[in-house]
Amino acid sequence: MRLLKRGMFLLLLKLTIALESLWILSLLTRSNPGLNPSSVLENSWLEYTDSDDSPEKVCNCSAILQGEREALEQAKLLTVTKDFHKSVHIPDEHYVNATEDCSAFKLRRKYLTSPLSQEEEDFPLAYSMVQSFERLLRAIYAPQNIYCVHVDKKAKSSVLNAIWAITDCFPNIFLVSHPVDVVYAAWPRVQADLNCLADLYNSSTQWKYVINLCGQDFPLKTNLEIVRTLRSLRGGNSLESEEMPGYKVGRVRNSHKIIDGGIQGTGKAKEPPPFNITIMSGNAYFVVSRGFIRSVLEDRRVLALMEWFKDTYSPDEFLWATIQRMPGVPGSTWPHRKYDMSDVNAIARLVKWQWHEGSQDSPDTVYPECHGSHVREICVYGAGDLQWMLKQHHLFANKFDIDTDPVPVYCLEKYLRKRALSGLQ
Ligand SMILES: *[C@@H]1O[C@H](CO)[C@@H](O)[C@H](O)[C@H]1NC(C)=O
Ligand SMILES: *[C@@H]1O[C@H](CO)[C@@H](O)[C@H](O)[C@H]1NC(C)=O
Ligand SMILES: *[C@@H]1O[C@H](CO)[C@@H](O)[C@H](O)[C@H]1NC(C)=O
Ligand SMILES: *[C@@H]1O[C@H](CO)[C@@H](O)[C@H](O)[C@H]1NC(C)=O
Repeated sequence: MRLLKRGMFLLLLKLTIALESLWILSLLTRSNPGLNPSSVLENSWLEYTDSDDSPEKVCNCSAILQGEREALEQAKLLTVTKDFHKSVHIPDEHYVNATEDCSAFKLRRKYLTSPLSQEEEDFPLAYSMVQSFERLLRAIYAPQNIYCVHVDKKAKSSVLNAIWAITDCFPNIFLVSHPVDVVYAAWPRVQADLNCLADLYNSSTQWKYVINLCGQDFPLKTNLEIVRTLRSLRGGNSLESEEMPGYKVGRVRNSHKIIDGGIQGTGKAKEPPPFNITIMSGNAYFVVSRGFIRSVLEDRRVLALMEWFKDTYSPDEFLWATIQRMPGVPGSTWPHRKYDMSDVNAIARLVKWQWHEGSQDSPDTVYPECHGSHVREICVYGAGDLQWMLKQHHLFANKFDIDTDPVPVYCLEKYLRKRALSGLQ
């Protein structure tokens, strides 16, 4: 009898402990979803579904992502329809109204409100965004990351107001402290990024990597995939950095200046670069560590180099690529040619240049034909590019333009959100 009582007491005790830990577990899950498999169900409302009231929902994205011809033809037809474009277009003023109630805005637009995993929470990222749009922001937004948005000094007040209204809803998104007047292919484009980088560096010591974006970029990976890829770089940077091709030499050999909002050659030759630094060729996009940014802001060689770059043509094509090969810069590689990195091999940005497109049979081609249109010889993606694009290792792709073709962004955002919520892999 005594023994039975004792057994029941123990059983009761065990039950209480079990219930208590269950209760603690449910508390944990509620305060921090993403740490437990049950959160997959809890978060399912965050998926973008076809009941979301968007005109693009007539497209069958799963068929498009599988490259099915009928779905692609239907999408193509849609993008040449005037009424469709009209219905998709959202005026800037809308965002000022829509964000009056921030929590309602975030709820309706399904912004993530907590990290989806511990792994992502432990590896916060920083973003420097030169001009941006709400769809891009929503796709990359996570509460543990930090975002600096640069709005061109020339921007219309309606654009500024819209971006101001949206950023005001989030404690981890801010506008750059010193906006500049961006001039295509000239130094101010670099300065815009630099000002955001300085602000990001100064406002948080937590972030591990920084990625710079412009308004025509869109992610190809979820935040967790980005975090895992960056961790695998083990402190290294990833950006295009190659030997200077002959046809670009004039861009840095001669001096230029800004006249009437455009850049022009002055006819004068420049001094050679400081410290006998070899100028490398690349592009405007990077994925770099916090240490790289410390060098950009503090290393006297880099500061001298930036001063030297100010009157070159398209300095963003050379500056980051050159710093990436300077000894002593965190995450850089040796200057030797064997370490040259092409845009195809770097993970920063997928770009399709028109002259590289074609069939795989030809030795001169790098990627299949563009299924959208071209702007300055760069592919503006169409729905037909998606299947191929998602097989690439790049974190982001350029160019997307929702005014030209909203379908690629629509299908990508649905795909990525679904993947992020599924806990993936
Ligand atoms: C969309 O395409 C997929 C793949 O072909 C197909 O299984 C599905 O039934 C289609 N959905 C609709 C609503 O047509
Ligand atoms: C914004 O809200 C005001 C008042 O609520 C309304 O009059 C106006 O039409 C709205 N503007 C837009 C663009 O929705
Ligand atoms: C960083 O912030 C401090 C104080 O907020 C300020 O004094 C300093 O100038 C800032 N540095 C940069 C590089 O912006
Ligand atoms: C500058 O670099 C070149 C090769 O990049 C080398 O041949 C030359 O000796 C260097 N000059 C000085 C002054 O270090």
